Amino acid sequence: MTWIMERPNANCWDEPSEEKCYDFYNGNCEGYPGKPCVVDIMSTLREAENATGQMSKKEWNEWKDKAVKVSERRSKNKFNRSDRVSDKYHILFEKNRLWEGITWLGVPMWKLPNDAIIVQEIIYETKPEAVIETGTGHGGSALFYASVLRSFGNGRVLTVDIKNETSQYPNYNAVARIMSFIGSSTNPLIVKKIKDLSAGRVTMVILDSFHSKEHVLKELELYSDMVTVGNYLIVEDTHVNGNPVPWEYEEGPMEAVKEFLKKDDRFEIDKSREKLVMTFCPNGFLKKIKG
Ligand SMILES: C[S@@+](CC[C@H](N)C(=O)[O-])C[C@H]1O[C@@H](n2cnc3c(N)ncnc32)[C@H](O)[C@@H]1O
Repeated sequence: MTWIMERPNANCWDEPSEEKCYDFYNGNCEGYPGKPCVVDIMSTLREAENATGQMSKKEWNEWKDKAVKVSERRSKNKFNRSDRVSDKYHILFEKNRLWEGITWLGVPMWKLPNDAIIVQEIIYETKPEAVIETGTGHGGSALFYASVLRSFGNGRVLTVDIKNETSQYPNYNAVARIMSFIGSSTNPLIVKKIKDLSAGRVTMVILDSFHSKEHVLKELELYSDMVTVGNYLIVEDTHVNGNPVPWEYEEGPMEAVKEFLKKDDRFEIDKSREKLVMTFCPNGFLKKIKG
């Protein structure tokens, strides 16, 4: 049986959130709504800089500009696979299932930290109103996307899983931004509900459920229409089946992407999103370039 669960507060998209500004500083902050929490710590920082001889603002800016240039240059570099120290680390990471121990705000987030940062960059740049995730797992990634969205906008996370393992969510404000659907990501009822909710909104999609080629291909077919032009369809775990992680099953997400792109020219692989070299999503950051 398939059933759909929506979290409290999640029915009305535009409902004003009841976020309160945390009172970090001795209860002096008035907080939301109406007034952001502003605490002037700059003068304290400047004093500390002077006292310890740390970088001046000018030095910091020069250093930052240089770092950005180096990072831009590196992201254009082509790395020879056999030179990749990262592949060895990648295989070690996977073999020891190190991702199992990663959490976001206390909730297991089965994601490579590199990829979390890249997704955060994409969310910040493209400002989606809906982030659709297939494969909720314990919900750490959904909570991560919700936390990022909460920082600057009114976006929602729509996440689907055959299991409901998110009951341990702490009572964080960001949780109210998550709509959780229980059932298969390919179930027509769920697909329709998610499609209806995201229609007309800036939408990105992240596929991270069952990693067989067949299932991912089906998801690509079902969810690709929902992605807004200029936004991303991210296929997780394309790194299995020798890319570079060994896998005992047959073809997986990488092969699904290859087949999908043969017949769908609305998307292109955005290699610049692999700038940190090690990623669980090689060839998996698909940018929608036309409708
Ligand atoms: C890799 S985990 C998801 C991890 C999660 N996205 C995260 O980053 O923490 C894969 C999840 O897909 C779910 N799953 C398997 N088959 C599915 C299907 N047909 N539809 C939706 N979810 C499915 C599993 O129950 C599992 O929780």
